[in-house]
Amino acid sequence: MKTTLIYVCSKCDAQSPKWSGRCLSCGSWGTVGKDPIVPDVPSSQTSHVPHAPGKTETFDALNTASTQRLMPTLFEALDTVLGGGLVHGSATLIAGEPGMGKSTLLSQVALAMATKGQKILFITGEESPAQIHLRLSRLSNNVPGQLSYLDDTRVEIIAATIEAEKPDLAIVDSIQSLTTEQASGEAGNVSQVKACAALLTQTAKKTGVPIILVGQVTKDGDIAGPRILEHVVDTVLSLEGDKLHRFRVLRAIKHRFGSTDETALLDMNESGLKIIVDPSQALLDSRAMTAAGSAVGCVLEGRRPLLVELQALVTAAGYSAPVRKANGFDASRLNMLLAVLTRHAGIQVYDKDVFANAAGGLSVRDPGADLALAAAIASAVRNKPIDPKTAFFGEIGLTGELRPVALPELRIKEIIRMGFKTIVCPPLKNLPTNNGVEIIQCKTVKEALG
Ligand SMILES: Nc1ncnc2c1ncn2[C@@H]1O[C@H](COP(=O)(O)OP(=O)(O)OP(=O)(O)O)[C@@H](O)[C@H]1O
Ligand SMILES: [Mg+2]
Repeated sequence: MKTTLIYVCSKCDAQSPKWSGRCLSCGSWGTVGKDPIVPDVPSSQTSHVPHAPGKTETFDALNTASTQRLMPTLFEALDTVLGGGLVHGSATLIAGEPGMGKSTLLSQVALAMATKGQKILFITGEESPAQIHLRLSRLSNNVPGQLSYLDDTRVEIIAATIEAEKPDLAIVDSIQSLTTEQASGEAGNVSQVKACAALLTQTAKKTGVPIILVGQVTKDGDIAGPRILEHVVDTVLSLEGDKLHRFRVLRAIKHRFGSTDETALLDMNESGLKIIVDPSQALLDSRAMTAAGSAVGCVLEGRRPLLVELQALVTAAGYSAPVRKANGFDASRLNMLLAVLTRHAGIQVYDKDVFANAAGGLSVRDPGADLALAAAIASAVRNKPIDPKTAFFGEIGLTGELRPVALPELRIKEIIRMGFKTIVCPPLKNLPTNNGVEIIQCKTVKEALG
C-alpha cells in the first residue's frame, strides 16, 4: 500500500497532504512544518481482531500512599508554585522563551536536592555536559557526586536508563532535542515531541520517578509547538519575564495535583534565580514618585496581589498616524482603553502617540490594572503627577463603567501594607473599616479620573 506523507501545523496540529505557507485550518503563517511525516494508520484501516476483556480492579485495593507523598525540590519558588513539591511519578513541563532561565532554575533544583543526598539524573540534550558543568560550577562552589548526567537524545535509551537507575529526580533539557523510533522526522517536530513526551510520562508513572521536561516556547507563545504537549504531562509551569529585566514570574498553567493560583516572583542575576520575598516592594523600588504619567495599580498574579507601577507617555503624533505601543500589556487592551477614555472620560488622545509600560518588565494580564493604566494616561495627558500615596484597581467596561474585580479585600490589604493612603476602585460590597486609608469608590472611569 502506498503511504501518503502529511504536513502538520505546529499551532493547531492540522494535517495536510500538501505543504503551504499558511495553515488552511487555523490561518497562521509559517506554522506548517517543512518536513512531511508518515501519518498514523486510522483505526478503521486496522484489522479487528477480537480481544480478551481486561481485568477490572477496585480503587480501594490500590495503595496510593507513595504517590500522594510530595517530594520537596528544596527550591522555594518551585515548591511554592507546586504546592509543596513534586508528586512521585509525575511529569512536569517547564516552558519559557529562550534565555529565560529554565536551565538555571533546574540546575539550582538539582544542586539543592543533590546536596541533601538525593540522586539526580540530568539528561543533556540541548547543551553539552561541559556547558552544564560550567553553569553548575557558577551556581555552586561544590557540584555534588549525587548529580549525574546522560548524554543521549534517544528517548528509548533515556527511558531505559531512568528505569534502571531509578533516580530521585530526572531532568530532561529539552524535550525538543529528543528523538524516538516511534515517529519520523527530525527532533523537535510535532510527532517527535508528542511521542517523546508520551514515553517519558509513561516512564514516570511506571517507575515513580518524577521527571521534569524543559519545553521551548515558540514566537506565538505556544509550548514546544503543539499544544497537545500540555495534555500529555501532569503539570505545566511557565517561566516568564522580559529578558532585559531581572524579574521572572514562575506560574502554574496546569497542575493535576493542586491549585494553579500560586505564583512566585524571582530575581535573576549571575548567582541564579532567587525568590523575591516582598514582590510589591521590589516592583515599586525605583518608582518615579513625582513624574506625570505614573500610577500604581494592584494586580493579581494567581491569588497573590502585587503593586505595580504603570507608566504612560503621551506626545503629539504630528502628521503621521498615531503610534500606540504597549510593553507588558495586551496592545488591543490599550487601544480599547484609549477609545473609552476619549469617548467617556473626555481625555483626547486620538491625535497623540501613546506608549504604555509596566515597570520591571512584568507582563500584566489582570483587567484590574485598567484603572491604574487609565490614570497613568490621564496624568500624562494633563501633565499632572498623581499623589504618590494613591493606588488604583478596577476593570473598565466599554461604556466607561468601572467593573468589580476578583479579590478586592486582598488587594486593599496589600495596598495598605505598602503604606498607601488613598485607594480608587469600583463600588465594593463589603467596605473594610478602621484601616487608616481613604477608599474612593467610583462608578465610572470619568468619576475616578476626576
Ligand atoms: N555568567 C553569567 N552571569 C550572569 N548571568 C548569566 C550568565 N550566564 C548566563 N546568564 C543569564 O542566564 C540566562 C540564560 O539562562 P538559561 O540558560 O538558564 O536560560 P534557558 O531558559 O535555559 O535558555 P535556553 O532556552 O536558550 O536554553 C541568560 O539570558 C543570562 O541572563
Ligand atoms: Mg536552557
